[in-house]
Amino acid sequence: MDKFVIRGGDPLLGTVRVSGAKNAALPCMAAALLTDEPVILENIPQVRDIQTTRNLLAAMGADVELGYGRAQHRTTLHCKTLAAPEASYELVKTMRASTLVLGPLVARCGRARVSLPGGCAIGARPIDLHIKGLEQLGAKITQDHGYIEAAADRLKGAEIVFDKITVTGTEDLLMAATLAEGETILQNCAREPEVADLADLLNKMGAHIHGAGTPTIRVKGVSQLKGAKHRIIPDRIEAGTFIIAAAMTGGDLNVAGCDPSHLGALLSKLHEVGVKTKSSADSVRVMGDNPFTASDITTEEYPGFPTDMQAQFMALATQAEGTSIITENIFENRFMHAQELVRMGANIKIEGRRAVVRGKTPLSAAAVLASDLRASASLVLAALVADGETIIDRVYHIDRGYEHIEEKLRGVGAQIRRIGEMFPKKAAAPARA
Ligand code: EPZ
Repeated sequence: MDKFVIRGGDPLLGTVRVSGAKNAALPCMAAALLTDEPVILENIPQVRDIQTTRNLLAAMGADVELGYGRAQHRTTLHCKTLAAPEASYELVKTMRASTLVLGPLVARCGRARVSLPGGCAIGARPIDLHIKGLEQLGAKITQDHGYIEAAADRLKGAEIVFDKITVTGTEDLLMAATLAEGETILQNCAREPEVADLADLLNKMGAHIHGAGTPTIRVKGVSQLKGAKHRIIPDRIEAGTFIIAAAMTGGDLNVAGCDPSHLGALLSKLHEVGVKTKSSADSVRVMGDNPFTASDITTEEYPGFPTDMQAQFMALATQAEGTSIITENIFENRFMHAQELVRMGANIKIEGRRAVVRGKTPLSAAAVLASDLRASASLVLAALVADGETIIDRVYHIDRGYEHIEEKLRGVGAQIRRIGEMFPKKAAAPARA
């Protein structure tokens, strides 16, 4: 199991380039299931969840080629025939976003068998709203042995109001609606940029979608979709993570290839705390030479403060003068990083959905454990300013959503290295008789 060793104290200086958004790439890969023609996606991040999705689609019979070398951020997905419209527990348990294949499979093949995702470190993560929406589109859904079985000759357009705002729920139903008969109106939709990026691809494939990125999305169903080529938007959470890293280390960093218009809530909060930034059309320059003052955050659906930046903000809050109240409104158990930060010297008290962070506290290196993707990022940020050498175990969590993060950080002056086996050694071949 790989570990990171990070020696704190160096300011991040220079330019770091942001990769494509994992949370846009995943639904866009699932969208390829909706057509028997090739779909080409560019700016795909080289992260574990993309590999998992490739394996998932390949197991169904899709031909998914992940580019290498210069074309390494490009994938061609050709779902010509889908012999097995299924998503197994073995794959779904490693990545709950696998449920994004449910809507496309029912729409394309008329049936799907997808494992229920089960919970994860940050919460129960139910998919009841995905199921309810598909039933409203006419799918017959049963559940047994931990699997969802869905069937429909042809989905029929409907008016669907989400009880709660759900990102992948919106994406799943949006994809299903593109091939449904008649018009579908989705209300109380997620407004994340990744939803709009998916709709952009689907419209290139011949779908008729209006309103993506707003609470109400209208879809006029078509009988089939065609192949398309699409470039994935930049990863706003990776960009936000590097922006906070630059601020905490007192650096001067240009975060390039991002879209500042996706970072509104984060940037305005960071300005309140005292972080200086300057944005251009596709980059954010961070000058971290200011002392920080405490500020409160409450995570909300987009365009509010993103839950995926809560752990990273908590690391910053430990370095701010005063008391910051962090309220996590989206997931029920997303403070796993807090106790690890406390072991590094932070002063954090958890009270239900609130974390009370009292700063500024000097952080000292420790052996810590990553528990989920964004918690791991928070520990990396703390280690970059901690006194001494921090060892972070189970960094496979961070590999799920950050492309070569240690190389990117080393490239701008951080002292970070990966130890352990990237890939477990093959068992020694049995001695020949
Ligand atoms: C997406 O997860 C993201 N993942 C998450 O990013 C992100 O944290 C989350 O949206 C919130 O922004 C991907 O896009 C692949 P939700 P998703 O459905 O869609 C409840 C990361 O770190 N809910 O918007 O699974 C749910 O329990 C990951 O990159 C239901 O009750 O999140 C939660 O409380 C972590 N029933 C709330 O809604 C449902 O059917 C929002 O969840 C669906 C969701």
